Amino acid sequence: MLSYRHAFHAGNHADVLKHTVLVHLLRYLTQKDKPLWFIDTHAGAAAYALDEGYATKKAEYESGIGRLWARDDLPQPVADYVEQVRALNPDGALRRYPGSPQLALQLLRKQDRLRMFELHSTESRLLQQYFRGDAPRAIVQAGDGFAGLQAVLPPPSRRALVLIDPSYEDKGDYRQVLKALRDAQKRFRAGVYAVWYPQVAAPRVAPVSRAVESPAGEGLAARYPHGEEARGERLRPAWQRHVHTEPALAAAQGPGPRHAVSGQGSGAGCRCDFQR
Ligand SMILES: C[S@@+](CC[C@H](N)C(=O)[O-])C[C@H]1O[C@@H](n2cnc3c(N)ncnc32)[C@H](O)[C@@H]1O
Repeated sequence: MLSYRHAFHAGNHADVLKHTVLVHLLRYLTQKDKPLWFIDTHAGAAAYALDEGYATKKAEYESGIGRLWARDDLPQPVADYVEQVRALNPDGALRRYPGSPQLALQLLRKQDRLRMFELHSTESRLLQQYFRGDAPRAIVQAGDGFAGLQAVLPPPSRRALVLIDPSYEDKGDYRQVLKALRDAQKRFRAGVYAVWYPQVAAPRVAPVSRAVESPAGEGLAARYPHGEEARGERLRPAWQRHVHTEPALAAAQGPGPRHAVSGQGSGAGCRCDFQR
């Protein structure tokens, strides 16, 4: 029985980092004409109200997107992400927040494809309603994204960005992430895989971290060293040797933008590692 609802956390500092990187990756990967598939194994509800319901309970967005919303001095990749959020709030007031499916919808082209999986019955219903009538461009499957991922690989165009973003509510998710990543890479080595996982010193996390940080030796990571609550995103750009995520992550690293991205006070921030 799943109880995690992303609406409680929509637009918080972790979403800011994750979605800044996601926007940057989608921008980069859509430069080439060949169709791109965006596969979201744990899609959530597409978009979230910030002025009512769950998001207002702890108002986590206030220390995330809320801190960036009115700024006009952000470095380009972060400004680009904020622009995407603004696109969903055309009247200028921050009321809605785009989840990964909505960001992809905004950035993918007509030749691209969006494949989403969501296991929570309420979230998957919302997601299906959101994308009703958008097939074959966008297809939502109510079900397990780990298994569903294997069924859609490799995509016909042989180009895909895969976001694996579980809530880790089920501790078995760590094992599942590992298996899904390994199986997916066997089916489709050239995919670009972005995996979001907690950066905590727990035995269950170490194998995930080792798996995404070792093999081909190319990739990057963006991390929040915030102790037990910290979460990290590990990205393995295998499709191209020069996925230009550096500017986004460098922005996250610098003193001003770092705090802008993390949405936290002084002393907080995120750490970014690059491997070549
Ligand atoms: C962190 S949220 C996703 C947020 C979304 N990717 C975004 O960036 O806006 C994780 C989602 O995964 C869903 N979920 C949990 N286990 C799943 C599974 N095995 N397959 C698909 N979805 C799952 C949860 O219901 C939740 O909506």
